[in-house]
Amino acid sequence: MSTPDISFPPAPENRIFSGVQPTGNLHLGNYLGAIRNWARLQDDYEGIYCLVDMHAITVFQDPEELRANIREATAGLLAAGIDPKTSIIFNQSQVPGHAELAWVFNCVARMGWLNRMTQFKDKAGKNRERASVGLFVYPNLMAADILAYRATHVPVGEDQKQHLELARDIAQKFNNDYGVDYFPQPEPVIQKEAARIMSLRDGSAKMSKSDPSDASRINLTDDADAIAKKIRKARTDPEALPGEVDGLAERAEARNLVGIFAALSDSTMEDVCKDFGGSSFADFKKALTELAVDKLSPMTAEMVRLADEPAYVDGILRDGGERARDLAAPNLKDIYNIVGFLQP
Ligand code: TYM
Repeated sequence: MSTPDISFPPAPENRIFSGVQPTGNLHLGNYLGAIRNWARLQDDYEGIYCLVDMHAITVFQDPEELRANIREATAGLLAAGIDPKTSIIFNQSQVPGHAELAWVFNCVARMGWLNRMTQFKDKAGKNRERASVGLFVYPNLMAADILAYRATHVPVGEDQKQHLELARDIAQKFNNDYGVDYFPQPEPVIQKEAARIMSLRDGSAKMSKSDPSDASRINLTDDADAIAKKIRKARTDPEALPGEVDGLAERAEARNLVGIFAALSDSTMEDVCKDFGGSSFADFKKALTELAVDKLSPMTAEMVRLADEPAYVDGILRDGGERARDLAAPNLKDIYNIVGFLQP
């Protein structure tokens, strides 16, 4: 095969892409595992942040609810401190390059690679035959999201690590197959203390939008009373807090609350154990409630304010969509050229 006689601009060096599904309440896991980090990284990186509505419909969404959830999640990103002037905030379906590149990647990724994806197995459950085809190829669209911008860094929670490894494999196989050095290998950026925030009701399940129990998660829209109630009811064990992190082994619920405290206070689990070693959970939960309300309530207030400003939120998405299209379109042109699509 001859290498295409085309030259490309170099890939950007510090470009972040990350996304969140607008499928319901944003929760503390989304915030501590990902979104807070997006806001923190935006000064050092070019940030592209996406409400992935096309991923959302891999499981049926009521259209009215989807529209409302896209606006609410956008408000969440803004309330978390992402600056729409510096960073790009948009919903995925506005930029055709995502779906176009996903098709190319459907032809690059191998069935065996996708068959190994644990998230598909979890979400499809026992009845794989009834899962949508979109759910199966979901990680290819995710690779396209990132690589349509040739993004270099991807801040996510730990549950997305396997999908990112797949994106790296796709980038490499594309480069090898076509004899080019076009796509970078995107690096996951994962926060240590908040990589995996667990359910407040079950320390072995991750905090999730799809958990039927609202008591399992702290939503970014919860008010102070709701936060206090959920933390008070959070499952723990009868022991006091240990003075060292080792003492949290086999104590998943306790470990989760200590991890949340550490992440919210920007400290470490070691420090939290030092400060609270020997305290009862009743006392620790009071301190955690105070901290959570202090950190989250300004964000909740801003989300409530933005809920009354749909035209403003839509304007942010429209502007972000335009800027994202401008970045992706020339890359898609390059990619179509590499693949050999005639573009007369
Ligand atoms: P989603 O919508 O499930 O979650 C958005 C982000 O929140 C993180 N997260 C968590 N982190 C810690 N603890 C938790 N309990 C927790 N729950 C969620 C996720 O890891 C994620 O970073 N497939 C992605 C969306 C996506 C994407 C992308 C991400 C689509 N394209 C491209 C990065 C790059 C998802 O469903 O995230």
